[in-house]
Amino acid sequence: TTIEVTTREGQKVDVKASEGLSLMEIIRDGGVDELLALCGGCCSCATCHIIVDEEFARHLPPISADEDDLLDSSAHRNSRSRLSCQIPFTQALEGIRVTLAPED
Ligand code: FES
Repeated sequence: TTIEVTTREGQKVDVKASEGLSLMEIIRDGGVDELLALCGGCCSCATCHIIVDEEFARHLPPISADEDDLLDSSAHRNSRSRLSCQIPFTQALEGIRVTLAPED
């Protein structure tokens, strides 16, 4: 079970995923240390911003008002932006491709 992470330098890294963890935890603990996740996953820093592959959009949980507000603070938000700490990994997300958003 893996997810494919594209770093800011464009390097693709396969990271082992397990259910019960958020995408943020999976990416960070999988050795992609450029995902800062400064707030530790409590939806208050936006440093876990990722761009999610369109193909998986329908498997993602809806964006909460807090996540939406925080994403708005990023200059790099687009229609596929999410905060990775707000997405629990499930089997439906097997093989999901995500790209780290540029730093704000
Ligand atoms: Fe801070 Fe996701 S880790 S908002």
